[in-house]
Amino acid sequence: MNVNGIATRTIAPLPDCSGVIIIDQTRLPFRYELRTLRGLSDVAEAISTMRVRGAPLTGATAAYGVALAMNEGVDLDLACATLVATRPTAVNLAWALTRMKSALAPLPAGERRAAAWLEAAAICAEDVEVNRAIGRHGAALIGVAAKNKAGPVNVLTHCNAGWLATVDWGTALAPVYAAFDAGIPLHVWVDETRPRNQGASLTAWELKQHGVPHTIVADNAGGHLMQHGRVDLCIVGTDRTAANGDVANKIGTYLKALAAHDNGVPFYVALPGSTIDWSLADGRAIPIEERRPEEVTCMTGETTAGEVVTVRVTPAGSPAANPAFDVTPARLVTGLITECGVCAASREGLLSLYPGRG
Ligand code: MRU
Repeated sequence: MNVNGIATRTIAPLPDCSGVIIIDQTRLPFRYELRTLRGLSDVAEAISTMRVRGAPLTGATAAYGVALAMNEGVDLDLACATLVATRPTAVNLAWALTRMKSALAPLPAGERRAAAWLEAAAICAEDVEVNRAIGRHGAALIGVAAKNKAGPVNVLTHCNAGWLATVDWGTALAPVYAAFDAGIPLHVWVDETRPRNQGASLTAWELKQHGVPHTIVADNAGGHLMQHGRVDLCIVGTDRTAANGDVANKIGTYLKALAAHDNGVPFYVALPGSTIDWSLADGRAIPIEERRPEEVTCMTGETTAGEVVTVRVTPAGSPAANPAFDVTPARLVTGLITECGVCAASREGLLSLYPGRG
């Protein structure tokens, strides 16, 4: 992705391996600020406060968290336990930590530090290639939609499953970028995605950086747009996909899938293989993160004077609940777009692309 015309990744190690540079996503879209994480506690804080977020980027950041922990001489098991406790829903976190542990545990203590930096870099490099492949497969679907209509293809997406949620490209937005770069005319409906507004603040920001035509809509607008033929397909990401194709994603995804089903709009979910939890037969046991009620009762914005402020938007004292994800049943999902191709949202579909798993 380009930021102000410069090719950029969401996470990068310092050349001397003394730290890791991230984009502080809590500051977007008002400020583009880089931040250097210097140790395990910095990384744990950055993930739990969502300075970095999105399933694949959370995993990549945790991998660098292990590398920083090795710099500090922290015990490997303790480092992994600290990092896996930061957020519960996205399985990429546990996936990346398991991979780091498998790479490091067999090594003598003196060799772990260098190996950790190499393995974290490998996880990031693979994420970029996997997302590029998701983009290729998903762009073909957008291309088919383009053949069947005059004018731009209208894609609706929820939350941010773009470049900012991964090391590069994104999952749900990778097909959008690939199709756009190939000259397919398209337009993206961006759900604002309350309570944290990842759509309005992050997806809109990165689409704008890349020059992709888009329109932000209130979360409740999607059903109306679909009823009026203004959405050709939905593409969203996922934080954990069960072996039967049920998908957990940002709260509100399920309602979009219901509306898409009712209106005959194809509903695709884009994911890397690292987001599949083969240990779960279906989505019922996916842990759903409950976040602070203040994310619902308050909103952050920029005043006309350019000051970034947080204000309460609810009556003082009214309680609020904040489930951060929901599960969309596989029966509402038209297809899963993965790095290995597109498949049905079912055990058979997933096994056709990942034989021997599960
Ligand atoms: O709470 P967040 O912002 O981490 O949630 C992100 C999402 O729900 C994304 O859709 C998901 O992680 C897929 S990211 C490629």
